[in-house]
Amino acid sequence: MARILLTGGLGYIGSHTAFALLEAGYDVTIIDNCSNSTERVLERFEKQFGAARRPDFFKGDVRDRDFFVRVFSHASIDGVIHFVALKSVDESFAQRDEYFDVNVEGTRALCEVMAAHGVRRIVYSSSACVYGAPEKNPIPETATLQPTNPYGETKVACEKMLQEISSRDKDFSAVILRYFNPAGAHASGLIGEAPKHPANIAAVIMEYLRGMRDVIKINGADYETPDGTCVRDFIHVVDLAAAHIAALEFGAVHRGAHIYNVGTGRGFSVQEMITAFAAAANREIKTEVGPRRAGDVATAVADPTKINTDFGWHAERSLTEIAQSAVNWITQNPHGFED
Ligand SMILES: NC(=O)c1ccc[n+]([C@@H]2O[C@H](COP(=O)([O-])OP(=O)(O)OC[C@H]3O[C@@H](n4cnc5c(N)ncnc54)[C@H](O)[C@@H]3O)[C@@H](O)[C@H]2O)c1
Repeated sequence: MARILLTGGLGYIGSHTAFALLEAGYDVTIIDNCSNSTERVLERFEKQFGAARRPDFFKGDVRDRDFFVRVFSHASIDGVIHFVALKSVDESFAQRDEYFDVNVEGTRALCEVMAAHGVRRIVYSSSACVYGAPEKNPIPETATLQPTNPYGETKVACEKMLQEISSRDKDFSAVILRYFNPAGAHASGLIGEAPKHPANIAAVIMEYLRGMRDVIKINGADYETPDGTCVRDFIHVVDLAAAHIAALEFGAVHRGAHIYNVGTGRGFSVQEMITAFAAAANREIKTEVGPRRAGDVATAVADPTKINTDFGWHAERSLTEIAQSAVNWITQNPHGFED
């Protein structure tokens, strides 16, 4: 069976994708520097799949070429899913150079070592951030790329890099997935989002429910949306993980660079998200409206027609299931992976 290398495989989306890959019979190798995750995630893999199927793990930095060479020399790798990135929109303004270094130079280092080892299949984690303030919603992949923050700029730079490599090397395959807003957790309750640096509304709500915040600050309630809060396309992380398997299979038979939105095609507001979590937790959630956050846009909803058609993949899970699975995760693991 094929072995897939996951960079950032201990992180939120990476760990859920590793679960999906192991469920589908793939072997998994993970690299991660644990800057936003913990090695204890590996125990959860073992609990679910047994010691024999525990992923190989290498701790190191995605910018370190010598480290990558050691990883690629250890076992034959058939394909790569590249999750590693710094991902906070806010932080990316203050730490622009670091964001370009990790996100763009890290991707360059990975691609160079892949080429040196004859590995020519990659699935790349891009983001709806590349669209910035979209001209229309739902957003097709053909929309203009105009990111409103340095984080989004790094994603555009990486997409271009992969497109350039694909046009130079006709055997190279890059499937670029533009995620909308992942949330929720695996139904087992064994893995879920437990970031050291929460960067999205679901992670913030979970911190509130775990007693780490007294109130949830809503970043602006004066947007041109039905309730004034931002509207996003929240996609269940288990659906997103399944999209990676479909992308790997597509990349195995299609060369070149291919770009796909990964979303549901339905928008829900930040306020609706909070309400869904309050219902799932059967608790009131206190909110307070703050100013708008730099780089945010009013509405961003995917047009998922292309991925629905080409991969036969559809998002199956609802906002209610997102909230219920996330609440199940934090109820079973009040201290995240540190229990
Ligand atoms: N979660 C979202 O809302 C979202 C939305 C759109 C796109 N994305 C993209 O999806 C990918 C995965 O996101 P996630 O939510 O799982 O993030 P995450 O932070 O949970 O996972 C990223 C992992 O990369 C590791 N890492 C960070 N810097 C590293 C480095 N220099 N070397 C090695 N490892 C390093 C972290 O420790 C972490 O485990 C990222 O590329 C992100 O930009 C995420």
